[in-house]
Amino acid sequence: MSEPIILKGKPVADAILDQVARDVNYLKEERGITPGLSVVLVGDDPASATYVGSKERKSRELGLNSVTYRMPENTSEEELLDLVERLNNDPTVHGILVQSPLPSHIDYNKITLAINPVKDVDGFHPVNVGKLVIGLPGPLPCTPAGVVEMLKYYKVATSGKRAVVVGRSNIVGKPLANLLAQKRDGGNAIVTIAHSAADDLGAITREADILLVAIGRPNFIGSDMVKEGAVVIDVGINRVDDPDAKRGYRVVGDVDYNQVAPKCSAITPVPGGVGLMTIAMLMQNTIASARGDFNQS
Ligand code: GUN
Repeated sequence: MSEPIILKGKPVADAILDQVARDVNYLKEERGITPGLSVVLVGDDPASATYVGSKERKSRELGLNSVTYRMPENTSEEELLDLVERLNNDPTVHGILVQSPLPSHIDYNKITLAINPVKDVDGFHPVNVGKLVIGLPGPLPCTPAGVVEMLKYYKVATSGKRAVVVGRSNIVGKPLANLLAQKRDGGNAIVTIAHSAADDLGAITREADILLVAIGRPNFIGSDMVKEGAVVIDVGINRVDDPDAKRGYRVVGDVDYNQVAPKCSAITPVPGGVGLMTIAMLMQNTIASARGDFNQS
């Protein structure tokens, strides 16, 4: 088999961020609006702190009004709901994101339900999940939308192809499967949602023309689970201990890249693949919200 095409996230994310930068300038100069994004982090999960830091950096770089609320682990559900309500009522805030996971004493669904769907730049509110499923415009969840943008950018044919999504989370697996099944560009695929309870997961994943993995287990997909010539999209971001690494860990995907790459026609690296798309799509959702795109859809 020839070398696979490496589907890097950077050129795709850069193209989206260039457009976002132009849109921010237009909103500021022509309409006097500075897009505002408020991100809430509760507790001190190190991976979440890193993601939130990157979101803050990127939104500042783009000239957004970016505010990050870092709250202690023992924040009560009521306190968090109060903050969400304040942000809902603040006209300078166009996007609200509460970083998941939350401490176990807080019900993430309850928080998601409290966010005004118009400001829900994660696309997690049931109103927006419903819009996605029936094909109405609205904020799309960032990581799944980023995956579809990558497939379109690299001209990976999806129509009529067998797509297998491994993982059924509300953040990635379920919305990604829905997007791939939509009758539109970057969709129209024949979609299976597979997960860890499958009797024979390999038999399912080996049927995939496009295998998309978001199961949160390092190097979970080996070459025996992939069809020769498949396109493999690895959404996993896992920290594994590595005493030789500067930080004491290294980041690997859900796919065993070294084993799988020689077998496929194209593959996303980790890091440097899908991960870069999440922030780009978040910025895009935030300016869309500031522009009023989600107001009456
Ligand atoms: N945790 C991991 N990914 C995400 C995301 O896209 N949004 C939020 N809110 N939390 C996350």
